[in-house]
Amino acid sequence: MYITQLLPLLGLASAAVLRHHRQSNVKCPIIFDGRVPQNLTLGSFDTATSPFSPQFVKGENLAWSQILLLPNTSLSRFDDTGVHKSLEVTINDHSLFHPGGGNLQVGFRRAGLLLKDDKNPIGNDSADAGVVTFHWSIRQDPARALNLSHEYMNVWHEKADYSGNQFTFVGGVVLKQDGGDGFDTPEERNSWKVQDTKNKVVFKTPIKSDAWQNFAIQLDYANNTLQVLYSAGNEPLKQATEPLPNDNVGGGQLQLGIAKKPTETESVVYDGFQEHINGSEGQIYGGVFVENSSGGCVSQ
Ligand SMILES: *[C@@H]1O[C@H](CO)[C@@H](O)[C@H](O)[C@H]1NC(C)=O
Ligand SMILES: *[C@@H]1O[C@H](CO)[C@@H](O)[C@H](O)[C@H]1NC(C)=O
Ligand SMILES: *[C@@H]1O[C@H](CO)[C@@H](O)[C@H](O)[C@H]1NC(C)=O
Ligand SMILES: *[C@@H]1O[C@H](CO)[C@@H](O)[C@H](O)[C@H]1NC(C)=O
Ligand SMILES: *[C@@H]1O[C@H](CO)[C@@H](O)[C@H](O)[C@H]1NC(C)=O
Ligand SMILES: *[C@@H]1O[C@H](CO)[C@@H](O)[C@H](O)[C@H]1NC(C)=O
Ligand SMILES: *[C@@H]1O[C@H](CO)[C@@H](O)[C@H](O)[C@H]1NC(C)=O
Repeated sequence: MYITQLLPLLGLASAAVLRHHRQSNVKCPIIFDGRVPQNLTLGSFDTATSPFSPQFVKGENLAWSQILLLPNTSLSRFDDTGVHKSLEVTINDHSLFHPGGGNLQVGFRRAGLLLKDDKNPIGNDSADAGVVTFHWSIRQDPARALNLSHEYMNVWHEKADYSGNQFTFVGGVVLKQDGGDGFDTPEERNSWKVQDTKNKVVFKTPIKSDAWQNFAIQLDYANNTLQVLYSAGNEPLKQATEPLPNDNVGGGQLQLGIAKKPTETESVVYDGFQEHINGSEGQIYGGVFVENSSGGCVSQ
């Protein structure tokens, strides 16, 4: 009798201790947190509860609750069990963005999340100065596969005046206009590429169909350098490049999601070929956060 009473108590106590002592892999001061709290619903993304802007950047007449999914996957190593969950961004034939004062962007199929406190056009927010590391993990959804004959611009930090990006993370066949050679080879299709501000590829790795891939880009605004860190699965991030010279001026915002570019295009934004999407295409994200690395700290 004594034993049967004690065992459940022990069970509870050790679970509580484990929870309390579980170490998060996020080690440095967070500037913007894009990790999704477990209690958020799809409807939360249409409101101020969202970690992201409820308004931008998406197909006109679509709400984020119609674009996003909450897939039941394993977690990125930078999401905490019992605290966070994964998020999937999807596109379909209706993912046409109409910027205020501009024309409908019929060249793209796009849905891009902006961290709600990441300011533009003012720029110069706290992720635009010092040394900052931008983190995201990405995973493929076999039910919503990409067509990698196209260029997919999935994560980028765009200058406040929209004249370019400090860095760009792309998959698939990169258009000539965006610094690629435009050749649809298996190697080009099936790789992620990190481009610097001049669209030069500084890191490349195969796209995995069944595992998390974890990326981090560190921008040192004072020294004007860019450094890539990478790991697959649950492995800690490793340095994938040295700090490379990069012109980091211009402030701006991080954007993260899917921007599927057309093929056979001149302007990229307003013309070219996009096939009918059967259902939707998606990218699963996790572990999205921006951290202050001014003290030399990087979460790995
Ligand atoms: C989620 O939980 C947090 C912390 O307990 C709470 O502050 C927040 O209001 C909750 N959000 C929703 C949408 O329920
Ligand atoms: C989520 O996946 C886990 C493991 O595959 C499974 O045990 C669980 O039932 C799933 N939950 C839902 C809500 O589908
Ligand atoms: C993938 O894209 C290419 C280039 O636009 C197109 O020719 C092809 O039909 C597409 N494939 C599918 C399965 O939609
Ligand atoms: C930036 O440059 C300064 C001075 O040259 C150097 O001390 C510092 O280590 C550099 N920072 C990084 C992150 O390399
Ligand atoms: C921040 O703004 C100041 C002036 O407004 C400008 O000189 C500086 O270059 C900006 N910093 C960045 C990183 O763009
Ligand atoms: C479209 O998707 C559905 C459901 O996934 C599938 O059954 C069907 O074969 C697909 N059609 C084409 C033309 O690929
Ligand atoms: C980043 O950390 C440095 C010191 O390591 C601190 O001076 C600076 O204010 C921090 N920046 C932000 C935005 O918190």
